Amino acid sequence: MSETVNGNSITLQDNGSQKTLELPLISGTIGPQVIDIRKLYSETGHFTYDPGFTATGSCESKITYIDGDEGILLYRGYPIEELAEHSDFMEVCYLLLYGELPTAEQKGKFEHDITYHSMIHEQLTQFYRGFRRDAHPMAIMVGVVGALSAFYHDSTDINDPHQRMVASYRLIAKMPTIASMAYKYSQGQPFMYPQNRLSYAENFLYTTFGVPCEPYEVNPVVARAMDRIFTLHADHEQNASTSTVRLAGSSGANPFACIAAGIASLWGPAHGGANEAVLNMLEQIGSVDNVAQFIEKAKDKDDPFRLMGFGHRVYKNRDPRATVMQKTCHEVLEILGAKDPMFDLAMELERIALEDEYFIEKKLYPNVDFYSGIILRAIGFPTSMFTVLFALARTVGWIAQWKEMIEDPSQKIGRPRQLYTGPTQRPYVPVEQRA
Ligand code: SDX
Repeated sequence: MSETVNGNSITLQDNGSQKTLELPLISGTIGPQVIDIRKLYSETGHFTYDPGFTATGSCESKITYIDGDEGILLYRGYPIEELAEHSDFMEVCYLLLYGELPTAEQKGKFEHDITYHSMIHEQLTQFYRGFRRDAHPMAIMVGVVGALSAFYHDSTDINDPHQRMVASYRLIAKMPTIASMAYKYSQGQPFMYPQNRLSYAENFLYTTFGVPCEPYEVNPVVARAMDRIFTLHADHEQNASTSTVRLAGSSGANPFACIAAGIASLWGPAHGGANEAVLNMLEQIGSVDNVAQFIEKAKDKDDPFRLMGFGHRVYKNRDPRATVMQKTCHEVLEILGAKDPMFDLAMELERIALEDEYFIEKKLYPNVDFYSGIILRAIGFPTSMFTVLFALARTVGWIAQWKEMIEDPSQKIGRPRQLYTGPTQRPYVPVEQRA
């Protein structure tokens, strides 16, 4: 097929049948135009083919915009650098959910409502006892978040705007409680109940690291860094886990089940599991002396080793979140007086990789996961909790995208087609006649 582009349409020429088809070109507010192919199959009998959706828009959205070439990330139009510097996670949650920054009154009410939904049904605490103590906390998150739909029946009707809002607030509010309980369970320590006098990030640090035997003073610098890390991870267009949430939600599944599906998808090392994989990789590299050999492994097509925390489907420039994360990493290590050789190693690894022809040619830069693990380790989280924190922060993005999909009048159940290359139709062969 050849194609010409004019004005607001693109003409496809099927060289086989000599038929032509005019397809509309649709423009967004910023970013590439899209070719509306909704009538392609009915008019031509052809599907499109795009494994991994490298050039396919799955939906219209007003929430987040990424310019991968320029290294730009906007939440409802606001640059991530400005939100990380001047805003806070509760305000960012409101922005992602409602599209505008809240007034002081709106923010106060939102924070109050989230705070007063932070406890979980007491019977849910029994769920944890069903897991081995050494269960990966992400396995616990998938299980417990999915189980929320068994306790909060009064907010599972996706067609009721009020129930959608209640489910959204419950999920945002309860994720830190569920996450900290997963950590406590792995440590054999008692669960800590959230304190309404604390902020979202302070509460998470308190319920994670506090113990009943003594008061726990939250370090304000660490709390600010935690809050900023949540903001940096809050949303990111139609990434794998967000697309999972949208696809699950398109069938009408309840929001708790959809978020559990998103958590499962995020767990993969190519996605949110990369922050854990980065620390494991840095420990495997061990010292700056070994960096060169690992860079060569990453470049070797026959070696499955990838430089974890590097590269991105969309960013072909620095991930702006990595820049903020590196700065925050430096601040936290300095404030805590924590000299972490892994940070020095990471900085050296980044320097060497960014000078290497392979990484330059393939436009591979550090992404959001490259430095986050070093900060989290300095704060005291075990590596296994890193992706749990990513899921905690991304819950608001998943919810905002799920809500946008449900409220989109053009949305329908997601059902991709395929290029079939399997056997053509053939008759059944009884077992006695098989070779
Ligand atoms: C997240 O989508 C999102 O928005 C995700 C995320 C979010 O906020 O939701 O940003 C969070 O998932 C960040 C990414 C975390 N993953 C990692 O750090 C794992 C390491 N990175 C790679 O696995 C990889 O870069 C991906 C998975 C992130 C992207 O995979 P793509 O889209 O297949 O990468 P690509 O097509 O741009 O790769 C181009 C080339 C390929 O080589 P060729 O086939 O052209 O020869 O670069 C190579 C890749 O093999 N390459 C790498 C590499 N990443 C890509 N080579 C070595 N090390 C790497 N890290």
